[in-house]
Amino acid sequence: MNENKVIISPSILSADFTELGRDVKAVEDAGADWIHVDVMDGHFVPNISIGVPVVKSLKKTARVPLDVHLMIENPEKYVGAFAKAGANIITFHYEATKENTESVISLIRSFNLKVGVSIKPKTNQDVLIPYLDKIDMVLVMTVEPGFGGQEFMGYCAQKIPYIRAKAPESLIVQVDGGINEKTANICKSLGANSLVAGSYIYGSDDIKSAIDSLR
Ligand code: DX5
Ligand code: ZN
Repeated sequence: MNENKVIISPSILSADFTELGRDVKAVEDAGADWIHVDVMDGHFVPNISIGVPVVKSLKKTARVPLDVHLMIENPEKYVGAFAKAGANIITFHYEATKENTESVISLIRSFNLKVGVSIKPKTNQDVLIPYLDKIDMVLVMTVEPGFGGQEFMGYCAQKIPYIRAKAPESLIVQVDGGINEKTANICKSLGANSLVAGSYIYGSDDIKSAIDSLR
């Protein structure tokens, strides 16, 4: 089995922002497949993080795709700016778009980017069914979005097999929140093939071993 079949996307939310370039290089050198950028607006989630200028700076040095997770209201207002800044994958939340979901998918596509749609813990996976053949990735949140370092909520991961059963084989199913060596195994066994991890990777003394342990 190809050990690279799981896409590891370290979340820079747990990096040291005074040393962001160093911390991105560290995970790239350790084999990260993507860099996960958590964008929070203080409305959709009760926290504010980083935005377009940081993506633009990261694009100058990043050697792997930038996986931008928009935890914001009205994502359609910002898709163009993130695309122009250098995002490769843009994931937005179904809860932020609802009946406009399809138009936001088309908007992201119009910039030739990969499209992801995410659901929060309390959102039923069935809402995604109409979109599964129109997107590249589903992001299943296994914590309430807003903060790194929270505990994995196992019941959320139970959504993965339902999504897998209804989705085209090519769909990437990514999991975000509380991922470590143990919870990664649960998610992979349920059918996930991309894992986001922040505190587990950046909190480790040996970043390469931490990333390897998720594969
Ligand atoms: C949470 C973010 C996550 C966060 C994960 O709202 O979407 O990407 O950084 O952090 P850990 O891996 O520490 O749970
Ligand atoms: Zn995230």
